Amino acid sequence: MAPSRLWQYWLLLLLSFPSLVVADVVAESARERLSLNRGWLFHLGDVPFPEIKGHGASYNNAKAGNAGGAAALEYDDSHWRKLDLPHDWAVEGPFDPNANVSQGYRPRGIGWYRRYLRVEDADRGRHFELQFDAIATHSTLWVNGNPVHRNWSGYNASYIDITPYLRYGDALNTIAIRVDAEQMEGWWYEGAGIYRHAWLVKRSPVHIVTDGVHATPRERGNNRWEIPVDVSLYNSGKQPAEVTVRVDVFDPQGKKVASKKAAAQVDVLAHQQVDLPVRINHPQLWSIDNTALYRVHTRVELEGKVIDETSLHTGFRRIRFDAQRGFFLNDQHVKLQGVCIHQDHAGVGVAVPDSIWEYRLRRLKELGVNAIRFAHNAPAAEVLDMADRMGFVVMDENRNFNPSPDYLKQLEWMVRRDRHHPSIMLWSVFNEEPVQGSEVGYEMVRRMTAAVKALDDTRPVTAAMNGGFFTPLNVSHAVDVLGANYQVPDYDRYHTANPHMPFTSSEDTSAFMTRGEFVTDPDKHIIASYDDDFAYWGNSHRDAWQAIDTRAYVAGGFVWTGFDYRGEPTPHEWPSVSSFFGIMDLNGFAKTAYYIHQVQWIKDRPLVHIAPHWNWAGKEGEKIRVMVMSNSERVKLLLNGRVLGEQLVDPYRMNFFDVSYVPGTLEAIAYNGDQEVAHTQVETTGEAIALELMPDRTALKGDGRDAMPITLRALDAQGRAVPVASPRVTFEIKGAGKSIGHGNGDPNSHEDEKGSRRTLFNGLAQLIVQSHAESSGKLSITARAPGLKTAHLDIPVEAVAPVPFVAPTAVLSLLHYWRFSPASLARPDPLQVVADNDMNTWGWGQVPMLEHPPAQGENQGGSWRLYRTHFTARQDLSDGKASIHFRRITGKAEVWLDGKLLGQKTHYAAGELRLNLPAGQGLRQLNVVVQGEGNNPAGIDGLVSLEAHSLQ
Ligand code: GAL
Repeated sequence: MAPSRLWQYWLLLLLSFPSLVVADVVAESARERLSLNRGWLFHLGDVPFPEIKGHGASYNNAKAGNAGGAAALEYDDSHWRKLDLPHDWAVEGPFDPNANVSQGYRPRGIGWYRRYLRVEDADRGRHFELQFDAIATHSTLWVNGNPVHRNWSGYNASYIDITPYLRYGDALNTIAIRVDAEQMEGWWYEGAGIYRHAWLVKRSPVHIVTDGVHATPRERGNNRWEIPVDVSLYNSGKQPAEVTVRVDVFDPQGKKVASKKAAAQVDVLAHQQVDLPVRINHPQLWSIDNTALYRVHTRVELEGKVIDETSLHTGFRRIRFDAQRGFFLNDQHVKLQGVCIHQDHAGVGVAVPDSIWEYRLRRLKELGVNAIRFAHNAPAAEVLDMADRMGFVVMDENRNFNPSPDYLKQLEWMVRRDRHHPSIMLWSVFNEEPVQGSEVGYEMVRRMTAAVKALDDTRPVTAAMNGGFFTPLNVSHAVDVLGANYQVPDYDRYHTANPHMPFTSSEDTSAFMTRGEFVTDPDKHIIASYDDDFAYWGNSHRDAWQAIDTRAYVAGGFVWTGFDYRGEPTPHEWPSVSSFFGIMDLNGFAKTAYYIHQVQWIKDRPLVHIAPHWNWAGKEGEKIRVMVMSNSERVKLLLNGRVLGEQLVDPYRMNFFDVSYVPGTLEAIAYNGDQEVAHTQVETTGEAIALELMPDRTALKGDGRDAMPITLRALDAQGRAVPVASPRVTFEIKGAGKSIGHGNGDPNSHEDEKGSRRTLFNGLAQLIVQSHAESSGKLSITARAPGLKTAHLDIPVEAVAPVPFVAPTAVLSLLHYWRFSPASLARPDPLQVVADNDMNTWGWGQVPMLEHPPAQGENQGGSWRLYRTHFTARQDLSDGKASIHFRRITGKAEVWLDGKLLGQKTHYAAGELRLNLPAGQGLRQLNVVVQGEGNNPAGIDGLVSLEAHSLQ
């Protein structure tokens, strides 16, 4: 365009988009963090990219916004499945004996997600960030046809500034995500898809970056503390900003206990760090039993107005690993009674609702767990919030062991996101790496440890080693605490050789049990729950804990694992599909290991348990091995009121009795001194005659997120749960919610986890129900099984304010990209073709396009132009019942489709034009001749859409 015309062009542009005039004004509204879980479209399988051939296609291929296939702005996704996140497609599919045992024989593959996003004009000028908390496993993300992000781990979040690509108003935005779940990072089930939350965060151009507040308290001596409060700001706006940053700290009761402010200048497209260290003396200390959480609230003000703000919780606590005496929290010794856990649950795979995580952590708390190792990856942020709130100490573990820049980013992301959590007491940089005993391992860990320390110097770093401890140079020389996976025979040897090195088991046990089974049957892949069987490299639950608990220098242990998980069905393979390692099964139902650890770990209330159940029909007179577990001094066992024996409690080995089976009541009484302190019994039940549904909580929140496990049991005539019952149950769910899956804890079960049927396994199954979004009233469940009385349960669903969310956006099929001829004095040939290799004589544009004709004499002059585009209509717009809608054309117009005149606009004034779209498949050519009036600007100056209704 000639320079003399440039100002006119800008003026026209500004007049046509009044909102551009205000774009430079810094938006004043504060941060909005909106759930982006709703309104996605999903396609299982890959969508190949179209072949790029020919000059024009090759030239365009690499241009911004021109991604093809399902990554494109426009793509026919009309037949894709509609769903809400979180989503794990692997758990929806069938088991396949040819799939990978490590992934639980679940085919994973590739999938695509698309979502339309409407951004209102009023939001122009704000900063927009997409956040995906995790996508399994590799993902590539496009916004409006631009590749904007690639993520090479299924366990870390993606934060993407999408502001530059955005369109406003009806010109919708498209988010497209290709998820490659053929990639693996683990030897356990990893799921597939966008399985954690997604968010859209709207902020002022001048804002606090995501995870940009470093507020990890540190003690400056004598219970005087400092929170550094380093705030990272960014300015994506067009003006430098003089801002004030304020921090307020609130104690657990909500009282403000410290404040600070500082001024900062944030330059255009620049970061700025602001330090606001605050002092707090004698704070309430966070501990496992008293989870005192302080809130750090940071805000940014511009000209007296708050333009961004964010809060995080943190806590004050002293942690120390002592080489002789183990772990200390606030100077009190705490033996780590820990479990390792993966992140899948029955019925839902890895798409575990937050409320189901709460249930899982509650189950761990009831078991007496005080420490969790999220193995072998960082968990969802919400889960760490729960650990802070519920009182666990946490080993937070990095997934990929690699100090190269791309991978170091994953580790740094974890530390930056998580360092404010008081629960975290150890960073782990790896799990069991073959190079751990070598110089290579040492050099790699040295770099990764340094990267952690640069972001957080308040916690020790560990690495979970399963060997290499004794080589002259190994990983243990580059960490603060030695983490040993298994290797019990080497504990003392290592400690003797390294008496000043703190030591913890980072993983132990790996024992096998099938819940509710007490007779091993190798052919059926059933493993009795007496704690007799364990991996070659592991120990029984009792031996592992004895080894740890009897060594003061061992800070504690992390049982492999708290819950069963899919994949790794060691010691078996197909048809076993999930693990035998759990203290609990995939649903969180207790195995015998639960009671063993509970009596070992809970000290403040007397407990007694019996294994097995007492339903041994057909074994009358035979010896049944009975295990009694108690934390008291002495236990007595009685059968039908007759004393069978009395033993001093063995806190490590537990107590065993051989009992000749007689149906009836087997009773255990626990004593301290002469005082009876606890009692339990198991009874022989009758046949199952009825089903029972037991909710985990009294009500659900009607927010579309809240979920709860419902236990399904079978009862005898006296209302006792029958531990051996296995009816096949059909569920029906009505009202304000739905089922999101179910399980029964049988590692050999191949039942569908999503359908309406499930068989009880050893008397139990679990159904997980979730409320509908914006619902209230009740959710009704009916469970039926042949020959059994039907169970019915109504769960109240309470109306609650939803988590603020982005409403699903209806699809609007738009014709975005056009080429236009030079202006001419005479009507151009409407069917004129622009040469495929001619990139320069015709213009390129996106509607709206309003062009001023060049002055007479300049170029050709004149007020005619030809506009060309092509499109493939979506299936639902190809049947002859749709229309092409030009929202606005200034000038007269002829519209030609596939070489035929489709319709005309016969007046110059700006106006809309709507024409029927004749039926047709495949690529279609649309040419529009526009004639402006005299020297007035003309063009297709409104969006052009294909719409699903014709004119008659
Ligand atoms: C460990 C490993 C765990 C799990 C376990 C099973 O070697 O760290 O991820 O595989 O063995 O015993």
